[in-house]
Amino acid sequence: MSAVSKEYKRVTVKSLVEMKAHKEKIAMLTAYDFTMAKIVDRSGIDIILVGDSASNVMAGHETTLPITLDQMIYHASSVIRAIDRALVVVDLPFGSYQGNSKGALNAAIRIMKESGGHAVKLEGGSEIKDSISRILSAGIPVMAHLGLTPQSIYKFGTYTVRAKEKEEAEKLKKDALLLQDLGCFALVLEKVPAKLAKEVASTLSIPVIGIGAGSGVDGQVLVTHDMLGMTHEFHPRFLRRYLDLYTEMSQAFEQYIDDVKSGDFPNEKEQY
Ligand code: KIV
Repeated sequence: MSAVSKEYKRVTVKSLVEMKAHKEKIAMLTAYDFTMAKIVDRSGIDIILVGDSASNVMAGHETTLPITLDQMIYHASSVIRAIDRALVVVDLPFGSYQGNSKGALNAAIRIMKESGGHAVKLEGGSEIKDSISRILSAGIPVMAHLGLTPQSIYKFGTYTVRAKEKEEAEKLKKDALLLQDLGCFALVLEKVPAKLAKEVASTLSIPVIGIGAGSGVDGQVLVTHDMLGMTHEFHPRFLRRYLDLYTEMSQAFEQYIDDVKSGDFPNEKEQY
């Protein structure tokens, strides 16, 4: 039996806040292309994130830093063409909003105009508050992102769990409240202790979506290629794999190669 809400023909930022109020968990996955987005959307997902993880998953970069605004717009417009129901949130890429609120607004406007995305996501707290306020003042919904923020990987040095120490946890809680007060419609918490994430989710009225943040939050997000088992060398504790597509796809490709080499493909019925 599917647990998908039948109530929302189209998910909006307002529906997400209602889902939290009704204690309905929010399901979010990434997509970067038309075909994947169509399958994810028709499965009943609430939010599709056109994440800057496209830099890793699609382009093979080690970090999310190299992806450009033009590339994010390309991925987001491919996703938007596939969507019937989900809310599509698009990451603002590294360098497009940090320390420059005018640049942030221009980047967010380009995403909304050129891709048709429904909202943008930015990484960080008080240090990017001017950028967030300026984007919000243009009527563009903003999803916030705290905890492990991969665009700052060179500041952190590692991808380990964040906010384990009191000082960092206190800053995170303060930032979460500030982001809600500024007007963000939701917050992603990445790789933080479950107890802290639960506390933040129960303090805020906006939905908190976790990745590696335990079950006490209002929803979950995973990178689709990870949960499908396509990125098989990546196995953090928080990742649940629903398929082993790396193995299944490899087997299919090997079989195809054998069939071509042996002359088995195409057969009589597979030709004109
Ligand atoms: O870019 C991304 O995929 C993300 C998720 C991991 C939340 O930001």
